[in-house]
Amino acid sequence: ALARRGDQPLKGRRVLVTSGPTHEPIDPVRVLANRSSGRQGHAIAAAAAAAGADVTLVSGPVSIPDPAGVRVVAVESAREMLAAVEQALPADLAIFAAAVADWRVETDSAQKIKKGAGGPPTLRLVENPDILASVARRAEGRPPLVVGFAAETQNVIENARAKLARKGCDLIVANDVSPESGVMGGDRNTVALVSAEGVERWDAMTKEAVAQALIARFATRLTGASA
Ligand code: CTP
Ligand code: CA
Repeated sequence: ALARRGDQPLKGRRVLVTSGPTHEPIDPVRVLANRSSGRQGHAIAAAAAAAGADVTLVSGPVSIPDPAGVRVVAVESAREMLAAVEQALPADLAIFAAAVADWRVETDSAQKIKKGAGGPPTLRLVENPDILASVARRAEGRPPLVVGFAAETQNVIENARAKLARKGCDLIVANDVSPESGVMGGDRNTVALVSAEGVERWDAMTKEAVAQALIARFATRLTGASA
């Protein structure tokens, strides 16, 4: 088939996408988790593949199918996700859509924790590595375009701007994940693009449509060509 640039704006480009939640072990049968379905990140990986990119999708535990035409690396915890991301580099474009657990249990138990006279266990939490920030702040081998997400339940734009600066990425895709928004686990997403150039608010769309529009936008930024 004849692949015109308009159809395959990411042909020959390497794209890394993180998606899904992470699971942080408490003991062999229990985890700390979150409600991310992976739908938006997986849709972005699929859209990048459809745009001709060589795509690696590093995904936490999800119940949705692997996208077609994408290399999938399945991980559980944030630390495993970080290692898989480092393995997958270099990339031309890195998109961090995963809902990485902010904390893990300091020392997970080798055996199942039992109820007992001591009462409920106290879980001591420590902070996980920030995967996006560690890639965006690389001195060497930083992908030319690094995109983060900001899942917020309030002050969406303000929080996204702060994240853009704090993490050192080029763009933040901000979205409202408050329970009223229906985004978590739902079909649709309402996002705003936040960059040094300003804020662009998009109407609510299916997660697939958001993914296609994002990929077109990233391709334009990356190649300078119209996508
Ligand atoms: N992220 C990451 N590694 C982490 C935490 C977050 O790579 N340990 C990435 C997410 O994939 C997302 C961006 O950073 O692209 C923002 O995630 P978010 O949870 O909104 O930001 P945090 O910095 O964790 O701040 P908070 O949850 O307190 O709002
Ligand atoms: Ca977080």
